[in-house]
Amino acid sequence: MTSRALFVTRLFETSLAADKGFAALNADLADACRMLADEDQAGRRWCKANAYPGYTSYASLDDLPTRVTAFSDLKRRLDKLAAAFAAEVAFDLKGRRLVMDSLWVNVLKPGGTHTSHIHPHSVISGTYYVATPPGASALKLEDPRLPMMMAAPGRHAEAPEDLQTFVYVAPAPGTVLLWESWLRHEVPANGARSDRISVSFNYAWK
Ligand SMILES: [Fe+2]
Repeated sequence: MTSRALFVTRLFETSLAADKGFAALNADLADACRMLADEDQAGRRWCKANAYPGYTSYASLDDLPTRVTAFSDLKRRLDKLAAAFAAEVAFDLKGRRLVMDSLWVNVLKPGGTHTSHIHPHSVISGTYYVATPPGASALKLEDPRLPMMMAAPGRHAEAPEDLQTFVYVAPAPGTVLLWESWLRHEVPANGARSDRISVSFNYAWK
């Protein structure tokens, strides 16, 4: 008997850690993220009001690539990766383009979580990891067919990764993950003793 994979969900994973200038770029990003977490008063108010366990610029700043050189450098690299991912999943863009329309900082405190979610109004989403101290949360990805599996048995713990219902990806500084924006994901509790810092982003089809 043979079987084949249909309706495949791709996760794109790479690292900028071997790129020229990576150490300086990542240090600049870490400084910029921490600076924003200290100084973005509107963002801090939003995080407090919404019980965000740390800091995010998601609701307060929409211009980081024009505000800070390190973010524009990162965006330039991510644009290339998003184009490569679009090709890998065979998107026919019909002469239009994938455009990064949001990029934001996440500084997750020890013990902090980010509950399960998708990224509406987008095509490709992803995260760049700046700081992942020992014990920092992995990214947990969920089989998009999970709501249809109410009568199905679970999977063996040793099942191949592409048959698992949940997949955990442990990032390192420099890791870039990209996925299609409908793919539900979450950040489980940060078990590190210091902040887990990442930069997330969305691409829309324009
Ligand atoms: Fe997300």
